[in-house]
Amino acid sequence: MTIKAVRGTRDLLPPETESWNQVEQAAREVFALYNFHEIRTPILEDTQLFARGVGEATDIVFKEMYTFEDRARAQSEKAQSLTLRPENTAGVVRAYIEHKLWERPGLQKLYYIGPQFRRERPQKGRYRQFYQIGAEVIGPPSAGSESPARDAEVLQMLVSLLQRAGIKDWNLQLNSVGCANCRPAYNEALRQALAGVVDRMCVDCQRRAQTNPLRVFDCKVPEDQPTIETLPRIGEFLDEPCREHFAEVLEILRATGTPYTLNDRLVRGLDYYTRTAFEFTQGSLGAQNAILGGGRYDGLSEAIGGPKAPGIGFAIGEDRFVMALSAGEAVPSSSVPHAYIAPLGAKMNAAAAQLARELRDQNVSVELGDDSFRLKKSFETAEKLGIAKVIIVGENEVASGQFAVKDLKNGEQKSMGREQLPEVLRRPARTSSSSVTEV
Ligand code: HAM
Repeated sequence: MTIKAVRGTRDLLPPETESWNQVEQAAREVFALYNFHEIRTPILEDTQLFARGVGEATDIVFKEMYTFEDRARAQSEKAQSLTLRPENTAGVVRAYIEHKLWERPGLQKLYYIGPQFRRERPQKGRYRQFYQIGAEVIGPPSAGSESPARDAEVLQMLVSLLQRAGIKDWNLQLNSVGCANCRPAYNEALRQALAGVVDRMCVDCQRRAQTNPLRVFDCKVPEDQPTIETLPRIGEFLDEPCREHFAEVLEILRATGTPYTLNDRLVRGLDYYTRTAFEFTQGSLGAQNAILGGGRYDGLSEAIGGPKAPGIGFAIGEDRFVMALSAGEAVPSSSVPHAYIAPLGAKMNAAAAQLARELRDQNVSVELGDDSFRLKKSFETAEKLGIAKVIIVGENEVASGQFAVKDLKNGEQKSMGREQLPEVLRRPARTSSSSVTEV
């Protein structure tokens, strides 16, 4: 039996990986403009981080985590429960606490790019190993971390990134999910409303009604939707500070011309959210149309044992982002090397390798052939790879320092000195989709 990639995981192959690199490059550029810096946290975390941070009653923690017992280091020790991170906000806040990042000046503005793991049912745009590009702004309230200006800035940064990357047809959906002060009254109202109807709902909703009624809004079962529509919404229960905070976020968005849609059902599937919660959907994505999601998490640091450190952030589903891009245009092709080096005759591999190294050191990309190939085979190989120029390295060439450079497009062959080669060969890399016309 052949071994295949695990269900819900996939190999990303060239040339598609070029699109991924372009997206990551665009994200890094935009993050730099907004003064965000990269953080890399481990993929493995203590299971408790997600249980306490993301919430035991969420689908992510309750149903979707890859969790295992590590081997105990000593007999007396209890094995530690580890989890492949299903998301990275909890990990970033853990790192913030562990390294006392609040001692650094200002707000921590951190971004990350990497894989996340959720055991969901795989489908188009939904994978068990998927990739996120995320960013978080965290800090003590004295540094301005609670300000609605931060929410609006994060949203603006996202709009810049979508525009720069060329993503069209997006829709920003916004809601405020209140705070620890307004949530108890809302939870109570939800519990009461659910009491009369919950036995008609799915088993997950019956569990949610008991453990964390807000999570009922995560339900995707079509038959439950009419019932969910009748439930009270958090918006009616926001306290004055939460109302004012949200109003100011909206005011800045309007002032900066950022379009949004209010969605009072949007509560997001993670328990740490407070106040502003948002999602961007994108028209071409189909059922899994949330291209990114995020929000404020003012109590997360304290929930995992840290100081008060309000924050706001988001994570882009990179798989979906790349999908939305390639729905609009052709997937870019891999860049093609500047030249192919064809060693000609026995024992010419060393001389060819030396020339290849010299050229690469001068930023000329080359594909290196083999001295067991006849010249015809070298030309054919270069042509298949879309490489326009072949440098022939035979005994005479090495002795004279003059190399024959064959242009496969027009068939011309010119002789030139070693020192001329980089200048002639170096030019912007072409792509395999373009025809072999440039010289
Ligand atoms: P999330 O909404 O769970 O939020 O995930 C963010 C994005 O990751 C989604 O909008 C989606 O594009 C992508 N995504 C999630 N699950 C999958 C999957 N199985 N396959 C493919 N893509 C997926 C978070 O993870 C929060 N940590 C975001 C955040 C950061 N909130 C505050 N800061």
